[in-house]
Amino acid sequence: MKPFKPNLKLVHPKPQPTGRGLVEANGFSVSIDKTLLLKGLSFQLVEKQLTCIIGPSGSGKSTLLRSLNRINDNIPGFSATGQLFYAGENIYSPEMNPVELRRKIGMVFQKPCVFPQSIVDNVLFGLQKRPRCKKDRAHLSMQPLKDVHLWDEVAHRLHDRADTLSIGQQQRLCIARTLAIQPDLIMLDEPTSSLDPLSTLAIESLLMELKVRHNILLVTHNIQQARRIADNIIFLCDGQIVEQGRKEDIFTHPKKTQTRNYLDNQLCDC
Ligand SMILES: Nc1ncnc2c1ncn2[C@@H]1O[C@H](COP(=O)(O)OP(=O)(O)OP(=O)(O)O)[C@@H](O)[C@H]1O
Ligand SMILES: [Mg+2]
Repeated sequence: MKPFKPNLKLVHPKPQPTGRGLVEANGFSVSIDKTLLLKGLSFQLVEKQLTCIIGPSGSGKSTLLRSLNRINDNIPGFSATGQLFYAGENIYSPEMNPVELRRKIGMVFQKPCVFPQSIVDNVLFGLQKRPRCKKDRAHLSMQPLKDVHLWDEVAHRLHDRADTLSIGQQQRLCIARTLAIQPDLIMLDEPTSSLDPLSTLAIESLLMELKVRHNILLVTHNIQQARRIADNIIFLCDGQIVEQGRKEDIFTHPKKTQTRNYLDNQLCDC
């Protein structure tokens, strides 16, 4: 089958980033068929910080994440306009290799998505070269599993199938799989929405540890979660950024009434 090519003709041919953020969007818009889903977004992601995207259902949070690592390319009718840069490189330039891009920008989904393989093989799934010997594979999987505090729980059963783990353990395994490819940016789309409170807190403290070394972009519906762990907030509604800034400013002195309403009762009249 011929690979689908997104409509990129409207993207400015030689846009220039300001160099102020690891990710930088300037008037970035996305349409599917003729429906505009993201409307002229402009923001920058500061390095080694955790940015939370909050906003009501259907506001475009997942669309934004999926546009950042170009998973949306395969949707028929997808088109992007404006500018979106990663480390100064135009994400939608014809020269950008989406497979390479996804090695730098890892993604964790809402529901833990483990493959029907062993725990070890799940961790090493994204690596270009995987050792053949079981012992070497186990050794290579150790650090990512330690990073997500799963090693002690699974060290004795590394070659068991990953779907025998609890849901919370599976989600940590998915984060380990993302860490194994050593991405610069980790994007997580509501990673705790299917987890119990204890597993949620485990993931939250893990993200707090990881942000020292990684850049993290987290979509959450959980305002308290954003309050606990975010450095920065982007509030998205109806495909537009209503307000963005440091967590302290957004939570204590929101500039917009819509932001205040959303933070108070998660209602939005955008
Ligand atoms: N493949 C698609 N084709 C057509 N419309 C789409 C597609 N994917 C998403 N949309 C639409 O884009 C809008 C934004 O969807 P998106 O999934 O990004 O929202 P969200 O903020 O992540 O919502 P939620 O919090 O429920 O996950 C919605 O109106 C959705 O129906
Ligand atoms: Mg979503």
